[in-house]
Amino acid sequence: MKLGFSRAKLEEVETDVLVLPMFEDEDQTSSSFAALKDGSENLVAEVLQSREFRGKLGEFYLIPRPPKVKAKRLLLCGAGKQRVYDANTLRQFMSTTFAKLRQINFGKVAVFDRGGVDADAAACAAVEGLIMALYDPEEYKTSNRGTPRISEMTFVSSAKVKRDRILQKMERARILAECTNFARHLINQPGNIINPLVLAQKARDLAKEGGLKIDVLDEKQMRQKGMNALLSVAKGSSVPPRLIVMRYRPLAGMKRKHRQRGPLALVGKGVTFDTGGISLKPAQSMEEMKADKAGACAVLGAMKAIAKLKPNREIFAVIPSVENMPSGTAQRPGDVVKSFSGKTIEITNTDAEGRLILADALAYARRLGAAEIVDIATLTGACVVALGHVCAGLFSSNGDLRDRLLESGRRAGEKLWQLPLDDEYKKEIQSEIADMKNSGGRPGGACYAAKFLHEFVGDTAWAHLDIAGVDLFKDETSPLKGASGFGVRTLVEFCFL
Ligand code: BES
Ligand code: MN
Ligand code: ZN
Repeated sequence: MKLGFSRAKLEEVETDVLVLPMFEDEDQTSSSFAALKDGSENLVAEVLQSREFRGKLGEFYLIPRPPKVKAKRLLLCGAGKQRVYDANTLRQFMSTTFAKLRQINFGKVAVFDRGGVDADAAACAAVEGLIMALYDPEEYKTSNRGTPRISEMTFVSSAKVKRDRILQKMERARILAECTNFARHLINQPGNIINPLVLAQKARDLAKEGGLKIDVLDEKQMRQKGMNALLSVAKGSSVPPRLIVMRYRPLAGMKRKHRQRGPLALVGKGVTFDTGGISLKPAQSMEEMKADKAGACAVLGAMKAIAKLKPNREIFAVIPSVENMPSGTAQRPGDVVKSFSGKTIEITNTDAEGRLILADALAYARRLGAAEIVDIATLTGACVVALGHVCAGLFSSNGDLRDRLLESGRRAGEKLWQLPLDDEYKKEIQSEIADMKNSGGRPGGACYAAKFLHEFVGDTAWAHLDIAGVDLFKDETSPLKGASGFGVRTLVEFCFL
């Protein structure tokens, strides 16, 4: 898809489909639509008066061969209330509208800037929304598959922006969106297609393509290092576990003195399927547990973007990957293991496996010399209960790091909400026979899980993102289905702050 920028007037834009954001509290006689007037008839006012389209967020209205304009079609897109309009709204309606129209080969698309939002941010949001809409989750359908093709997207704006600069930002947005789609595609793959070995191979391919260093630890190497919390989870599966470690280093030309921050570790939970193990999950919706690798895939997507965007900071990815299965060789409730950090864990629930593999991965990230650690994981059902499918839970031991993550989330259009890490939560995970146990009571479950992870990061600045509620699109009314790729864009933005 070619990306373009134009300062053309509404009536002058030559394109196959011209996206015109419309507000529900639109001034129907607004002079911005003067160009759409044909004699005494005002096309926009007419459509609004028909009540077939009211400008509400998510609505759209396609007008073929509109008079007086060069565009072949006008696509009115509901942008909601003008007062709360922002780049995230634009990204949202671009993705939902074009996902609904995915089967149509529009060719060239232009998006008309209605102002009110920073033009750079709006252009980027338009690119991201469009590219995310074009991802097709129906990979395994053998019929009726549309092959959407949009050859060009042009952002049309009269804002005072430098052409080169906005185009550069749009290219960056394209990378972010494509890497989000890369993560979505991996997450959507079922457990019979992606297991820890396959995930490791995908990481190797990615590293090769992006010029990143990679090291994949196998079972034997993990045993030598004493990563018994991770290995204990893996025991139940006939597929062996892997620990993927990738490294990005800034170009030698990038001056060290400009590098304010030490190495960052991105740690992602890579459970390729979570049955719960011996503490087996109920059948209801268990298929969704193929997405229990969403954290790992978000980190892979972020690394893919990082390799292209080249932030001036050293970055590691640490991805523990296992399959959590019940079997004759599986770990039992009550088992006690000694983790990589040396701390002992009583496993009271084999379905709380994410924190076990992350315990070893976090401790290993410290060992690798991380100055800051951000982990991302589909960790608890309790986080879904707390925040629903809107916000991811954010836990952090460090105010500065937390603030940078919150800002990254805002830039990315991915909502984060802070949850507590108070020491009182530790009581619940105290074990009678080991240093701690891996599950607490039901109420506050997201906090116990986070507190458990906290035990393994020592005094290193750390934040944990619980994405259990946001890894999949859950809005039945939205045409976006399957994995959301949540976290890719936030993590990449974070690398630049
Ligand atoms: N992968 C699940 C968490 C999850 C639940 C993700 C729903 C997405 C949607 C995790 O491994 C898990 O099973 N957590 C348990 C922990 C409990 C046993 C302490 C949970 O949340 O029920
Ligand atoms: Mn589980
Ligand atoms: Zn899990």
